[in-house]
Formats: sequence, structure tokens, C-alpha cells
Amino acid sequence: MHNCCSSQEQVNGLNRHGWWRDAVIYQVYVRSFLDSTGDGIGDLAGVRAGLPYLKKLGVDGIWLSPFYPSPQHDHGYDVADYCDVDPVFGDLDEFDQLVAAARRLGVKVLLDVVPNHCSAEHPWFREALAAGPGSAARARFHFADGRGPDGAEPPNNWHAMFGGPAWTRITEADGSPGQWYLHMFTPEQPDWNWRNPEIPAEFDRVLRFWLDRGVDGFRIDVAAGLYKHPELPDSDDPEIDARTRDSVNPLAWNQPEVHDVWRHWRSVCEEYTARDGRERLLVGEVSVPSAREHAKYVRPDELHQAFFFDLLGAPWDADAFRKVISEAMEDIAGTGSTVTWVLNNHDQVRTVTRYGEPAPEASGLGAARARAAALLMLALPGAAYIYQGEELGLPEVVDLPDDVLTDPIFHRTGSRARIRDGCRVPLPWSGQASPFGFTTGAQNAKPWLPQPEYFAEYVTERALADTRSFWHLYRDGLQLRSALPQLGEGTLRWLDAEPGVLAFVRGDGLVCAVNFGTAPTPAPVSGIPLLTSGPCPPGVLAGSTTAWWIADGTPET
Ligand code: GLC
Repeated sequence: MHNCCSSQEQVNGLNRHGWWRDAVIYQVYVRSFLDSTGDGIGDLAGVRAGLPYLKKLGVDGIWLSPFYPSPQHDHGYDVADYCDVDPVFGDLDEFDQLVAAARRLGVKVLLDVVPNHCSAEHPWFREALAAGPGSAARARFHFADGRGPDGAEPPNNWHAMFGGPAWTRITEADGSPGQWYLHMFTPEQPDWNWRNPEIPAEFDRVLRFWLDRGVDGFRIDVAAGLYKHPELPDSDDPEIDARTRDSVNPLAWNQPEVHDVWRHWRSVCEEYTARDGRERLLVGEVSVPSAREHAKYVRPDELHQAFFFDLLGAPWDADAFRKVISEAMEDIAGTGSTVTWVLNNHDQVRTVTRYGEPAPEASGLGAARARAAALLMLALPGAAYIYQGEELGLPEVVDLPDDVLTDPIFHRTGSRARIRDGCRVPLPWSGQASPFGFTTGAQNAKPWLPQPEYFAEYVTERALADTRSFWHLYRDGLQLRSALPQLGEGTLRWLDAEPGVLAFVRGDGLVCAVNFGTAPTPAPVSGIPLLTSGPCPPGVLAGSTTAWWIADGTPET
């Protein structure tokens, strides 16, 4: 972060720049980061042990995937208790130690809060099952009688995101066939009824619980969810969410009332900032149909940031990238926010593999493009999120055997094509063979997903020792981002460039150019680049490569 303000401003809570506006946050998928107990599952003590590594990389903060008590039907996105730590991951004392250690290092800590749904094992859902139709306990969820003779048909025709109907019928306490409840994901994840005032009040308590423990903010799961159309009517295209694996059913997502929730959460953050001057951050997983709808979530009194997923979704093509980048800049201008770029996360195929298609991975094309994309992202105006392993250039593990797959998408749809286990394989830290230093404790269990032999090439100890590694590219990019006033927040201006090349200038003469083609092109500016994602002879921008220069004078468009 280079937009720091004076210490006096920070003390007074007058940090108008907002540390988050161009922050780079590292997503820690806790169960796959580092295992300190040896049970084969990463944990909070492992995250604490890894903090110096992340500090050295140069990120501003970490986002921790859910570590709350959970039966893990969707790896913690099925929360049974929002205010505790699952024993698999540690305990509250360990959590406090992690936050304290991060604070000492100047690394911010964001938690993942899941307000659209909970776990079927949440005490309020169990209470609702026991309490019976019409009870106050059922009114915290969406329970309804079925349609058709004997109520045997679901209350409406919606399908769940991960396949199958969005409703499950229960058996009442007396053994009779009962009501149905709504779940937009798996049946183990009942949706909360946000029209019941108890739910916003409960989440107010949850936020304060963690803010009181010192966190710097929250990543909000399914932030366009929460409210549904009040009448829960049938949809014209009931399978659209499952088909697109995106939240697009207009009756189930993006209801206007959700914006009041974000206004309230923002005010809670401001309240804490007013107390101690530390600005808290709300970043939403917002998946909505248009840029205009997206922008609504980051109005000045709502979320600070919302992930801009269109860059992640763009094919490796100069025109496609230019289009989504331009749209993002236009969409965000005037909202008070900055664009929040992301290329990888725990739900998506990793860039090295995604950009390698259809060419065989072994060609190295995917890796070269992933490196180029990383340097492009770090040069764009705004904030960026890095997903663990991205800094090692990990490919997707595409050949996991069916019997180890845990993603509910696989089990509910039978689809190997879009499973999410392949990007969640535990990180390789050291050594020549699995567990590659991932498991450090006494129990000596295998990592919860098998690591392929080729992970030996990606271990962090090797990456740190090799200046040509992905790790050094990310580290160098992050260092320059901190040092150069042209990078981070601001605007960009496109430059004329060869076909298949994107070039833009940031601030006072920092030029970034990306060659999307495979053949070399003349460099768009003269001089020696500050940083390149791959080798470039003098005056040349190699294929599948990004370079940064400080230009002499301001280049012409
Ligand atoms: C979000 C999470 C994903 C999870 C889903 C349901 O999309 O990123 O991992 O399965 O929400 O909570």
C-alpha cells in the first residue's frame, strides 16, 4: 500500500484514502494451507505459522475461508455456529493468537461470513424442525407446505445452484410427511429468512463478535442472496442457476432489500472505525447480471468492494480482456469504490490450467499466460485478490480419483467437468514427496486430498530459491506496486498497440503491455522494462508475456 496517510490521521480515524482501495489480499483456504496437527487438514495454527511467508510475499492482508463449527458438507460454507472455531481448525484462543500475530506483522485479517444460509445442524434449524408448522422457529427459515395432493410437490419450481430441487421435504416429529424448506445450495444448507427481524439482529451480533476480537473485515458469501421474492413464485426458467452455476434466478437473488443489509453492516464497520481509527473492509461475492447492478453494491454507504468476476471469466484474448477491463472501470467510476480484481479462487479452475486449454499443459503456455495475467492484474487500478497457490503457479489437479472428491457439485450432479476439488489440493511447502511439508504435526495422516507427485516442482522452498519462479514474479510485482505511485488506485489510459497486444499507461508514465499472441512483437515503448513475466530480448515483447516500463515522457495513445 502506498496510499498511506499520516499516523495522526490514522489515530483520528480520518483515513480517507482507505487502505483497502488498492490492497492485495491473499485468500487462505484454511483446510489446504498448512496442517500443524498432522491430521491431514490445514488449521489456524498452520495459518499463523505461514504468516511470515505471506509477509515476505508482500500481501496487505488475508481472507480466511470458513473455519467455524460445521459438518463440512460444503467445506464450512454450511455453518453450525457462527461464533466459534471448529475443533478441526483450532479454537478461539488459537484464533486470537493468529489475529495478534498478523497485527504484529501488519497483515490485515478478513473472515468469511456466510449470511445466506446456515448448516442443517445449526441449533436454530434443529429447533425449527422440532417446533412444527407455523412456529416462530420455522419463521427464521423458508418453510412452506407442499403443493399437489398430500403436499407432495415442492412449494415452487426453483432448482438449487448445485443441482436438484431447491426444496427438501421433512418428516414432522409425529412421523407424518411434513413441510418443505428452501435451500439454494445443498439440502444441508437451509436458507435464512431475512424478512424475519431476528436474522438481521443475529448477524449484527455475529459481526460484532468477530470485530470485538480484532478482525479487519469480512468477505461476504453470496452477497446478492439473503432476500428472496416475498411470494416465492414459480420461475419461468427454474433450472437457470444449476445450468449456469450462477445466481441468476431473478426471484431468488438480487432483491432490492439486500442493500439495506449492506448499509447496516457498513454502519457497524464505521462505528468500530470511529472508536479506534482502523478502517474495516466489507468485500462481497456479488454475482449479478449487469455492471449497473454490480455497481449498486459498492455505493459509498454499502460494501467497500465487490469481486469483479468478469476478468476471471474472460477467455485469453486481448479484445475480451480490454472489454471487461473497460467495463469495470466505467461501472465502478462514481461509486466511491475501486475495482476488485480476481483471477483465481477456491471455486474456479486455476489460471495455469484454464489458460492452457486447449493446448496441452506441458507446453508451458498456460503457465506463461498465467504469469502474464498476474502482472496485468497487479498493474490495473484498484484492489486484487490472490488465491493460495496462485503465487506458486500451481496447476489444477485434474485427475483426482472419484472416491476422493468432496465437492457437493460432483455428488449432486455427477459432473467431473465443473468440480472444485482440483483447485483445493493442499499446498506443497517442501521436500520431494507428499505431504510436501503440508502436514507438520505428530499424527502423520495423509493430506485430505492427495497431492500429485509433480507438486514437487512447486514446493515453496524451491520457489523461494529460484528467482525465475512464479513466487518471485508475484513478490517483485507486489514490491513495485508498493513503491511506485503510478500503481494501485487511479485510472488507466489505453495506448495504441499491435493486434493481440493490450497496452495502457498508469499515472505518470508507467506502461503495462500484454502480448496475448504467441509470436513476439516490438515493445510498445523503448527502454529496459522494470519487470517482465517472461524473458524478453531488448526492444521485444515476447509472446504470452506482460511487461512494465517507466516510459520517458508520456506515451501517445
Ligand atoms: C460461495 C462460495 C462457495 C460455496 C457457496 C455456498 O459461492 O464461494 O464455495 O459453495 O458460496 O456457500
